[in-house]
Amino acid sequence: MCGIIGAALRRGNAAAEVYEGLERLEYRGYDSAGLSVRTDGGTVTVKRGGRVANLKESAAELCGGVAIGHTRWATHGEPSDRNAHPHVAGKFSIVHNGIIENYRELKDELLQSGAEFASDTDSEVIVRLLDKYYSGDLLAAVAKTVGRLKGSYALGILCEDFDGIVAVKYKSPVVAGFGEKGVTLCSDIPALPEWVTSVSVPEDGDIVLISAQSASFYDGGLQSVNRVRLPVFAGQFNGGTGDYPHYMLKEIHETAATVRDTCDAFFRNVDVKRLTEYVRNADRIIMTGCGTAYNAGLAARRFFSDKCRVFCQVEIASELRYSPVHITGSTLVLAISQSGETADTVEAVSALKEAGARVVAVTNCGYSAITRVAHMVVPVCAGAEVCVAATKSYIGQLAALYLISRLTADVFTARSELLSAGEKIAELLKDNGGADKIAEICAESSAVFFLGRGIDYAVAVEASLKLKEISYIFSDGYPAGELKHGTLALIDDNTLSVIIICDESLSEKCENAACQVTSRKGKVAVITCLDGAADKLQDVAAVWKIPECEANLSPFVSAVALQLVAYKTAVSLGRDPDKPRNLAKSVTVE
Ligand code: M6R
Repeated sequence: MCGIIGAALRRGNAAAEVYEGLERLEYRGYDSAGLSVRTDGGTVTVKRGGRVANLKESAAELCGGVAIGHTRWATHGEPSDRNAHPHVAGKFSIVHNGIIENYRELKDELLQSGAEFASDTDSEVIVRLLDKYYSGDLLAAVAKTVGRLKGSYALGILCEDFDGIVAVKYKSPVVAGFGEKGVTLCSDIPALPEWVTSVSVPEDGDIVLISAQSASFYDGGLQSVNRVRLPVFAGQFNGGTGDYPHYMLKEIHETAATVRDTCDAFFRNVDVKRLTEYVRNADRIIMTGCGTAYNAGLAARRFFSDKCRVFCQVEIASELRYSPVHITGSTLVLAISQSGETADTVEAVSALKEAGARVVAVTNCGYSAITRVAHMVVPVCAGAEVCVAATKSYIGQLAALYLISRLTADVFTARSELLSAGEKIAELLKDNGGADKIAEICAESSAVFFLGRGIDYAVAVEASLKLKEISYIFSDGYPAGELKHGTLALIDDNTLSVIIICDESLSEKCENAACQVTSRKGKVAVITCLDGAADKLQDVAAVWKIPECEANLSPFVSAVALQLVAYKTAVSLGRDPDKPRNLAKSVTVE
């Protein structure tokens, strides 16, 4: 959802630093990229439509101590050179992440006063306002400009008269990072350079003056404010793909470690006593999130209904935002988000908190927006997840939610169960040939349906999301029992139905679904941890027998198996699984 970065350096070339940062930050958008650098001859700006790599040659020619950069996920104005950031006017150059909701009104006003626009973006009004309001007092011009804006914005601003960067934050993420080379600003902690050892997180409304030596924070009224320095460490940063061809495959191979690390952090960092009280006193639990995070809630609902005698519901955050549910002071909200910055999730849980609910964030990113809203944080320890398709964070979310669901019963048993699930994942990853055959059939199918019952249904929904977002094959995930209520009409010999069977108590019903599909000439593949089901369904197009697991733990293994199927399908079709078309990693706009 657009990435912004900046560097004010004591030593080294800030243009090169920012270019490298853009490569790390590209998962936030890859429609265009650009940077501005202060050189001896004034500020120079280069920008290109398409991937960050398109900027490489021109960026390599630039040198200076202060620079800002941008990767774009287009919202207003098509992806092109013309609409790429930074936007420039007079002495200013700016990069923006967010949406300016009142840009039409501002643009009309600026056009009437003679301004000329060079792009179709909402962001350009910001630089035009800065140019209009600046008469020597930089902070005053910034404050006056942001005072006119409605919407969300994280900004990096260069001004010819200031040897540094001005950053502004309102409802879009940005952090200031500090280290031996100088000071940097960045949308996300994982994309910070490795020399950064501490960060400060501005609050909404803050204006930050960044120089190579320090950063000074001001609130909206231009009063100086203190923002604490928090340590960061290398494990939080994007460490590259290593020996893997893609981040997605690397991150799938980190799922078992994520389960272990999430368990460790739960007992080390969480106030288990207080959280147990929250769960014990809850009149109901509402889990919410978007995309894969929502799907983790779907699976976890089963954990809660099995072991925790509290009514539990799962809501898509973008819907919950506008259809508030009844809340009491005892309602517990579990806000699930990898990035912790998803606008719909943050807004939905902020509203529930205001209505009186207790909010617990289940997130992979400390210091994120959701952690500031929540009463308590349960960390998911997946490390930096760079691939746009969530893999290890989903497994980590399941682990964290599994532990929460067992707080009032036998949380230490739950911990050992999770560790053994981690071992099963490792076993699966060592011997994953079953994924190849299913991926081959997926790649030649016009549509792929994922079916399951109970907890397998929750996995089916996530498997479908994973396949469609990175392979672009039409896909749906639904409860196997619903097949005969509509979807059967779509089945023909070009479609594949992948049936997930890991709950023994429901396996015969799922076997029936397989027969209903094959008798309509549809192709069927089965993923099961049950020997019985694997033996009975030998006639279908493919059967992958995955390591045996108790039903509630089976998503840890079956979901990873299906992540591999999606990955292999996408790669065989020549797609880039790390950067699927039209998407971006964290969705910080509505
Ligand atoms: O950062 P979050 O977990 O809040 O992100 C939620 C969704 O945007 C995210 O899971 C998205 O659906 C992924 N592309 C799924 O792979």
